[in-house]
Amino acid sequence: MAVLLRALCLLPLLFALGFSQLSFFEDPDPLKDPFREVLRKGYSNINGGGRMAGRKADFETVYNGGWELVSASSGVSAMHLILFPNNKAIMFDATIFGPSQVPLARGNCRLVPGSKKKNDLDCWAHAVEYDIDTAAIRPLKVLTNTWCSSGGLSPDGTLVQTGGWNDGGQAVRYLSGCKTCDWKEYPTALSGKRWYSTQQILPDGSFILVGGRRMFNYEYVPKEGKSNPTNYNLPFLRETTDVVENNLYPFVHLSTDGNLFILANNRSILLSPITNKIIREFPILPGGSRNYPASGMSVLLPIKLHGVNAKVISAEVLVCGGAKPEAAKLAENNTFIPALQNCGRIQITNPKAVWKMEIMPTPRVMGDMLILPTGDVLMINGAKKGTSGWQFADDPNLTPVLYRPMKPIKTQRFKELQATTIPRMYHSSSAVLPDGKILVAGSNTNNGYDFTGVKFPTELRVEKFLPPYLDPLLAIHKPLIMTNFKGQRITYAKIFMVQIKLTETALDKSDLRVTIYAPPFTTHGYSMNQRLVFLAINEVVQVKPGMYQIATLAPPTGAVTPPGYYLLFVVHRGVPSRGVWIQIF
Ligand SMILES: *[C@@H]1O[C@H](CO)[C@@H](O)[C@H](O)[C@H]1NC(C)=O
Ligand SMILES: *[C@@H]1O[C@H](CO)[C@@H](O)[C@H](O)[C@H]1NC(C)=O
Repeated sequence: MAVLLRALCLLPLLFALGFSQLSFFEDPDPLKDPFREVLRKGYSNINGGGRMAGRKADFETVYNGGWELVSASSGVSAMHLILFPNNKAIMFDATIFGPSQVPLARGNCRLVPGSKKKNDLDCWAHAVEYDIDTAAIRPLKVLTNTWCSSGGLSPDGTLVQTGGWNDGGQAVRYLSGCKTCDWKEYPTALSGKRWYSTQQILPDGSFILVGGRRMFNYEYVPKEGKSNPTNYNLPFLRETTDVVENNLYPFVHLSTDGNLFILANNRSILLSPITNKIIREFPILPGGSRNYPASGMSVLLPIKLHGVNAKVISAEVLVCGGAKPEAAKLAENNTFIPALQNCGRIQITNPKAVWKMEIMPTPRVMGDMLILPTGDVLMINGAKKGTSGWQFADDPNLTPVLYRPMKPIKTQRFKELQATTIPRMYHSSSAVLPDGKILVAGSNTNNGYDFTGVKFPTELRVEKFLPPYLDPLLAIHKPLIMTNFKGQRITYAKIFMVQIKLTETALDKSDLRVTIYAPPFTTHGYSMNQRLVFLAINEVVQVKPGMYQIATLAPPTGAVTPPGYYLLFVVHRGVPSRGVWIQIF
């Protein structure tokens, strides 16, 4: 308790000092240091007897990012997007938007569910597996309607995908990553029709599903093949709905204490998935509406771990952009009002927390917010006016913005990056790739595939965005991970070794960071289950010239880091390695 109190008192100070000073949280008792045993003879400890030289600044770059057009067609509109641990991206829209640009394999058409026509066949794919290196696509066959559905990667790497429209509303679908894998569907698994609901992984690797249209409740995704008889009432969702329902796809984040932060419209709560009770309500986030169709963006900011962690591991949420509550109503009449330009940031592990407001360089609605391997946040895609919905927005926001949460001075946190030329409006998506590039796909503001005669045609081109750390001049500072993690499982709270190759000679332990990233399920401007954790580094030893071994401490619990697949990066003064897949259990 003393540690907690001290930590809380110090918070404003810590905030002012920035992340690098968070070692205040560490327990000073050296006997409790779990790293002490790892010191081994024969290797040179690069910290010269433990004296810290002090963290050097990140490498400077004037490179503002770049764009690559990587595919002329994803075949289907990428309304939903997730990266699999086999480095294939799954992209899909819905079953009702008519012919896509990719047929199903011969003889593998789908029978249209509930059709009055006899033998009504649909021979178009509505989902594809996309190879992130070659852009090759493999059509997938989904039967129930995935329109505006949700998803998440289960601990074994299977996509667990829920809800949608009509015959898909109560469905739970499973898709694994293999050469011939295809969807497995259970159309009646859920108790409620989950259209525009949010799926979040829990500390034990199971999922909760929150809300949906006129679903003022939540439920836990049942075991495969089972059905939920009922769900849990959540009046908070009824209270936060308004005339255009600006609380759909609520923002749900798993806090480090195992509780769920849920933001709907402009209110937020902390819910216990153990007792199913609301623990507290946070202050109202001012400025406007944040959820679909107002469609702001939200991330759980990077979690920073230490050798010995405080009882309460700090967790912070960032919410940016969105729209005024009346924006969707006005868009019905072709009046597109400016999107929100502000962000709120709140420490959800602090019972007395308040929102701290910041201003983005430009307004943004329907954008994506992705956490980069460095722990910085990227805002990309979306528009400057209007809301989500068919033809409900204008003025595409072509310029990505970098947000550096660790910078102590607010005005230094935002940076505008290189703009694209392709509007990414409603139903666009993006994903962080192992090489640190960002896959950008989708944009379809039409009811179907519409390529002519509309202001924003259906967009099938796929791009990659290169963040500033991919400056070719920084390549010499890039670590290369040598450890092969295939077939290995990383155990909670245990030390594991990461070996890297790096040409640098004057290396200090404090120049390196080890980060792990959970690949999110992205749709409608929200990346469900996205999480980045800075792991504690005990020690870095040079095993031979240019080869270093990093003794890294795995996260303590499933609440901090739910079990499953993560991309592990070693970041050297702001320059990330290529990420490798690890599995934590
Ligand atoms: C919160 O949102 C509701 C619904 O849009 C709105 O009526 C209310 O005025 C908002 N409150 C504040 C403080 O912005
Ligand atoms: C939209 O236009 C209709 C018809 O002109 C009008 O009745 C309605 O009030 C307008 N809605 C708004 C929100 O301005």
